[in-house]
Amino acid sequence: MSTTEPQIPTILLDDGRAIPQLGFGTFQVPPEDTERVVSLALEAGYRHLDTAQMYGNEEGVGRAVAASGLDRADLWVTTKLNNQFHERDAGREATERSLEALGGRIDLYLVHWPLAMHEDVARVWEVMEEIRADLPVDSVGVSNFTDANLARLAEAGLSTPVVDQIESNPYFVNDELRESCAARGIAVEAWSPLAQGTVFGDPQLEALARQVDRSVSQVVLRWTVQRGDIVFPKSSDPTRMRENLEVFDFELTEEQMASISSLHNGTRSGPDPDSFDWRG
Ligand SMILES: NC(=O)c1ccc[n+]([C@@H]2O[C@H](COP(=O)([O-])OP(=O)(O)OC[C@H]3O[C@@H](n4cnc5c(N)ncnc54)[C@H](OP(=O)(O)O)[C@@H]3O)[C@@H](O)[C@H]2O)c1
Repeated sequence: MSTTEPQIPTILLDDGRAIPQLGFGTFQVPPEDTERVVSLALEAGYRHLDTAQMYGNEEGVGRAVAASGLDRADLWVTTKLNNQFHERDAGREATERSLEALGGRIDLYLVHWPLAMHEDVARVWEVMEEIRADLPVDSVGVSNFTDANLARLAEAGLSTPVVDQIESNPYFVNDELRESCAARGIAVEAWSPLAQGTVFGDPQLEALARQVDRSVSQVVLRWTVQRGDIVFPKSSDPTRMRENLEVFDFELTEEQMASISSLHNGTRSGPDPDSFDWRG
């Protein structure tokens, strides 16, 4: 495989493992298209892939990884436990299916949604701790956990997740939760960093992009990584995939960073964790 091998920094997680700060997101990549799209992403130089049982495309991700010829140790693959599998036996079976699809190893495994309106989040976290102990799952974390959910894990005397994958983009900066994660030693992964494409056409972002001679996408992704978050934009286009990788060779000034943060208006691109309870 010929790649450009762009240099992507790593973030050290609290369990001592180093995750590439920028990866490739696969939400809404159709299952039948996933092997092709993920193969293009690997060719472009991505070495960190973010999928989920909910996306229905883990098999395609696994096939692309196998076909790439890359050393598995040079790749980071994250997947997520789906909402209907929070109980012990169902959780273990779902994990085994993911492992099968993804070639026998998961680098980071997340509880996709807390479902805290129905469940004690401590229970699913105990299931995750057991899974990590018994199966080839290297790191475990959570997604969409609120400060109250994280506090509940601590109060129950359980381990601290290494990651909380939460929505964060210029329109929904999520800074209170990001600060709570930082105080707890939890790395933040920012989902829908481009607000699912709604950042494009924003006049303030377009002006800033012109100022620094970069694209809107690069400016927004630069803002995210400069804030210290881990990020994995999704694109099905190889040119845009490469464009999104080129965010480590320039910096935004404090003023430019603040002007992007000032776009926050509380608009979410996805569901609110306090009410989302889809179980498939
Ligand atoms: N844990 C969770 O609950 C959760 C929720 C949502 C997302 N996520 C994760 O976060 C990842 C990223 O979020 P997302 O997929 O929701 O959305 P996103 O990455 O914020 O935005 C993707 C959209 O932006 C467009 N795009 C990407 N790069 C572009 C560029 N350089 N120029 C112009 N358009 C561009 C894409 O179109 P094209 O494909 O046509 O380029 C697509 O429409 C997901 O794929 C998933 O892995 C997790």
